Amino acid sequence: MADSDTVAVSCAAQLVNVGWAADGLPGQGKEILKGVSLKIPAGGLVGVMGPSGAGKTTLLRLMAGLLRPTRGRAFLFGADITDMPEAKLNSLRRRTGFVFQSAALFDSMTVLENVAFPLLEHARLSKREAAQKADEKLRLVGLEGVGHLMPAQLSGGMQKRVGIARALSLDPELILYDEPTGELDPMAAEAVESVIKDLQAKMGVTCVLVSHDVRAVLRLSEMAAVLHEGQIVAVGSPDELAGCDHRVVRAMLSRQTRAV
Ligand SMILES: Nc1ncnc2c1ncn2[C@@H]1O[C@H](COP(=O)(O)OP(=O)(O)OP(=O)(O)O)[C@@H](O)[C@H]1O
Ligand SMILES: [Mg+2]
Repeated sequence: MADSDTVAVSCAAQLVNVGWAADGLPGQGKEILKGVSLKIPAGGLVGVMGPSGAGKTTLLRLMAGLLRPTRGRAFLFGADITDMPEAKLNSLRRRTGFVFQSAALFDSMTVLENVAFPLLEHARLSKREAAQKADEKLRLVGLEGVGHLMPAQLSGGMQKRVGIARALSLDPELILYDEPTGELDPMAAEAVESVIKDLQAKMGVTCVLVSHDVRAVLRLSEMAAVLHEGQIVAVGSPDELAGCDHRVVRAMLSRQTRAV
């Protein structure tokens, strides 16, 4: 078995030679992900960067079991989720928080109701207990006191942080961030970055951070992968990537946030 094929039981998440095609048919032709292998060690912060359309969101959805591989295998908390029945997979998904690329908040609910929603759906808490817990999560992302507002009354950066608070509501062991700093001004992006860093460093939550924002990925990640046209072309520490002479990596790092 090649190293990329080895299943690491201690990993929070792992993809082994995963391909994904929208038509469900394996084969290189229409594949959006073309044989991706990636390990997410428990407690780590792994970045995945790549230009728009590279397959970053698809990769995250496969990790969370929101999509199933058309070839290869996906593992979550050491369990093979490739063909796992939905009911069983749901219990693993509850240990995972997903921060969507668009904040994906419910417009007709207050901020507090948005954050409390997964608690009421899955944790069998009373409304009062759920509200208390949601308040706690809003405090963690630096948003105390805004629970009564509607999402439309918040800035984009604040909405992103509400999305993070909601992903945190069930105390996940793994958080998957899809473009958490996308389209934010530098100050709002910095606030979101420091929330991400604190959650991992102080609370030990495993993180996967997917972004076309190369600078944010390199600042935050211990290890990062470069995804290009559905394939991982390099994996390494920020320093290792800086010294990497792969054409795509060099182009990405030199152009920073622009597409390759
Ligand atoms: N359900 C789907 N059906 C068909 N094509 C899809 C589907 N989901 C994604 N794609 C295609 O797969 C490619 C990768 O999409 P994906 O959203 O994963 O890219 P991305 O790297 O997240 O891009 P961005 O940086 O713009 O968010 C795109 O060409 C997209 O059109
Ligand atoms: Mg995306």
